[in-house]
Amino acid sequence: MLPVAPPASRPTPPGRLVVLVSGEGTNLQALIDAGQDPGYGATVVAVGADRDNIKALDRAARVGIPTFTTKVKDFAAREDWDRALTVATEEHQPDLIVCAGFMKLLGKAFLGAFGGRCLNTHPALLPSFPGMHGVREALEYGVKVTGCTVFIVDAGVDAGPVVAQAAVPVHDTDDEQALHERIKVAERVLLVDTVGRMAREGWSVMSSRKVRIGS
Ligand code: GRF
Repeated sequence: MLPVAPPASRPTPPGRLVVLVSGEGTNLQALIDAGQDPGYGATVVAVGADRDNIKALDRAARVGIPTFTTKVKDFAAREDWDRALTVATEEHQPDLIVCAGFMKLLGKAFLGAFGGRCLNTHPALLPSFPGMHGVREALEYGVKVTGCTVFIVDAGVDAGPVVAQAAVPVHDTDDEQALHERIKVAERVLLVDTVGRMAREGWSVMSSRKVRIGS
């Protein structure tokens, strides 16, 4: 008689996600929730931050996801911080890194290790309104439609290849906060959908910088 294999424990999900955060963590929460479904294809294995005492770290701790914090001010030079963040992230052997409201630019060491598989989400339709104040600048410009963009991080500021976008109409009554909250609703859906598809189907970046999910 052939030996009976032990019952399969929870299969290792193919997509190990490390999520980098700086604030509230609603995008992180959406990824954590999505990962509860084994069919999603990706699961958050660790959360990294550049500061303490943020809601995003509480969200991870609440469900037992390991966290690490690497603060710029603890290092003599920005490059040292970048190297430390790279090492801390590498420990969790990610397939994909997701910057979800992470308010720091990643440096050479990090992009050397994870370039091409590090995503970011931005609350505007890139290449319009890159940078820290994309929502405010879109509003001030007077656009009627803005939105959110998931893109692959490169050395520029919100400049990498676009993976997915969703449009959000601007209302006459919007202030920055109201508009950002509405964008974040669309952003969470877009991020969860995009990360899941990338984990399940793979992706490639064409020389023309067009990203294709699947084969
Ligand atoms: C998102 O809109 C992200 O694009 C921007 O900051 C927000 C983070 O939200 N950079 P949260 O921390 O995921 O709730």
